[in-house]
Amino acid sequence: MTSQVRGVQLARLLGQWHALPGRRRSPDYVALAAAVRGLLADGRLPLAVRLPAERELAEALRISRTTVTAAYRELRESGHLASRRGAGSWTMLPGTHRVASTGLWTPLDDRDMIDLGVAALSAPPQLVPAARAAAEDLPRYLGGAGYHPTGIIELREAVAQGYTERGLPTSPEQIMVTSGTQHALDLVLRLALSPGGPVLVESPTYPNALAALAARRARITTHGLSDTGWDADLLLGSLRQTRPKLAYVIPEFHNPTGHLMAADLRERLVGTAHAAGTDLVVDESFVDLPLDGTPLPPPVAVFDRHSRVISIGGMSKPYWGGLRIGWVRASAPQVQRLAAARVGVDMASPVLDQLVAVHLLAQAPTIVAARRTQLAAQRDALVDALTERLPDWRVTVPRGGVTLWAELDGPISSALARAAEEVGVRLAPGPRFGLDGTLERFLRLPFTLPAAELVEAVGRLAAVRYDLDRAGRPQWREPSVIA
Ligand SMILES: Cc1ncc(COP(=O)(O)O)c(C=O)c1O
Repeated sequence: MTSQVRGVQLARLLGQWHALPGRRRSPDYVALAAAVRGLLADGRLPLAVRLPAERELAEALRISRTTVTAAYRELRESGHLASRRGAGSWTMLPGTHRVASTGLWTPLDDRDMIDLGVAALSAPPQLVPAARAAAEDLPRYLGGAGYHPTGIIELREAVAQGYTERGLPTSPEQIMVTSGTQHALDLVLRLALSPGGPVLVESPTYPNALAALAARRARITTHGLSDTGWDADLLLGSLRQTRPKLAYVIPEFHNPTGHLMAADLRERLVGTAHAAGTDLVVDESFVDLPLDGTPLPPPVAVFDRHSRVISIGGMSKPYWGGLRIGWVRASAPQVQRLAAARVGVDMASPVLDQLVAVHLLAQAPTIVAARRTQLAAQRDALVDALTERLPDWRVTVPRGGVTLWAELDGPISSALARAAEEVGVRLAPGPRFGLDGTLERFLRLPFTLPAAELVEAVGRLAAVRYDLDRAGRPQWREPSVIA
């Protein structure tokens, strides 16, 4: 199925394409084609989307049609666009590229790339022993058909116990095991949101959550986080005013900013959501990863008395993304409804992988403690390198999670991502975490790679940042106030 992007939508996504730093006096059509390629490479413009007709885009961008015609020709030649007379032009993946993790595009041969587009750790040493132990356990399940739509009981018990230990009494009937947190989100959206329904999300937010919402054609409003996190009055005020069907929040070490929501706002958020008729989907992906001994507030669902809160989480961040184990915590009837929706999608999660998860969760204190130590050291190395090499960037040191959100010294995030690719660093630029081409002043930097690679990456970024300056910085100076 091909969907279509309209001229005004594409113009919004393209933002300041004509004045991107580092443009080096190339003709307009080359700059336009490069900007479209940038949107494709970082996933803001999906594959197999029909682009607007040349005339429509030219009008939306207020440029000549010949410029758009030449840019589309350039994109066809580089393998990013296919066109058929009378049918239009749609986006495609060039044969020289593949779609990497998190949706960013990458050349087929990218072995030397330092990938800062991914915010996830490699597997812990306990994984292989856990997999062996799981294989030993498997015969206990082989007598049955192996389909467990809500998950195997051992894993549901272990996950429920984790919630209970965090101060939220939970029974295994309230847990449904999924194939990752992203799968959990998709299932919850299928259940809780009719197509086109209104949703509130944070800005910035997790890009793949935006993708899941786009698949439901959600009507999205945003709550902008500041450098100190959520603004309680604004957040609760917009819930009261817009009364969305659903709100999606990441209260623990928010991706990408790293903020932690305070206990009193959690309580007020649940109360206000209930009064507004809004269901809260709470993504707890990073809850196991407080750093520096930061104390955790109670889970959001502690304040829920009306089954308004659906919590989702998983193994990817503290353990390993390749396990593909996540879960939903909701009321028992909601879990049954989710299971009914799930059988139309993938029936159940693999039994063997769930057994691996059980063995890893049994060693949670040891594994998670080592992850926290590792992440704190890598975060500190990244922050030190940024302070030394890019002192004009503003960085709030996160007290947990795996990412920091740097405020750059200009609206250069997309231009920097493109230049960084040339020197072997993959970045997810700020606009990827929002809607409509905003957030160009920001960049997400994960600290999930070894410290030496992070320091090397910052060195390369500092070099290309300097090049951008030489090529086009004056265009970005903010106009001085004329009073
Ligand atoms: C906030 C958030 N939610 C969900 C996910 C997806 O997690 P999973 O690998 O468990 O599907 C991620 C991964 O980066 C994330 O950061």
